Amino acid sequence: MQWKNRPNGLTWSGVIKNEEAKRAAAARLAAELQDGQTVGIGSGSTSFLTLQALAARAEKENLSFTAIPTSIEVANACASLGLRTATLNEARPDWCFDGADEVDDRKRLIKGRGGALYQEKLMMAAAPKVFIVVDQSKIVERLGMNFAAPVEIDPAALSLIYEKLEDFPGLQEVTLRAAGGKDGPVITERGNLIIDLRFSEIADDAHARLKQMSGVVETGLFFGYDFELVLAG
Ligand code: 5RP
Repeated sequence: MQWKNRPNGLTWSGVIKNEEAKRAAAARLAAELQDGQTVGIGSGSTSFLTLQALAARAEKENLSFTAIPTSIEVANACASLGLRTATLNEARPDWCFDGADEVDDRKRLIKGRGGALYQEKLMMAAAPKVFIVVDQSKIVERLGMNFAAPVEIDPAALSLIYEKLEDFPGLQEVTLRAAGGKDGPVITERGNLIIDLRFSEIADDAHARLKQMSGVVETGLFFGYDFELVLAG
């Protein structure tokens, strides 16, 4: 039997840039863990390394904790590590951590390259203390300079939202996120689509304007969240 692309939850499927620096930052963050806590686990490769560091410390020091994953991928990793998990409907995190695609000097974030932005935002809204772990490449002078801003939308609203975006301030390009090849659009864990928006400049009210459009589930613009930045490297 040959298993192709079978996840084992213990190895990251893609390339991790600056892995050593990220592992060091992950170990620093793992020192925050106290026995019996519930921790919200973000998605992406940096969060994956941080989860591993957390699990390693818990095992070494005989600490127990409950993880609340923000994606199926993270839930698989938790299962492989033998961790107890819960959902936001069952528990609240004492703190959470996540990665980001971009951070500007006003602590505005773009997240969602991995497509888990909706649950990641729920987690950040639920956690009293948030850590964002990034390397220097994610710190930007202008938000949107390296990454487009993802927006999760209901498929039924696609053409309506395209219409509404026609005269959206500063918007230059809209891309329906595709899985590549002939696989069609990316479908999120909630059964939605993601459109990636490129702006000349991302205004402070961009998230609110998008969010008020019928059919927009969530945006990857994380504005106004209080968090502690953990810099890798
Ligand atoms: C996923 C995210 C990730 O946190 C973000 O894409 C960073 O990922 P990585 O740590 O792999 O660079 O928002 O939805």
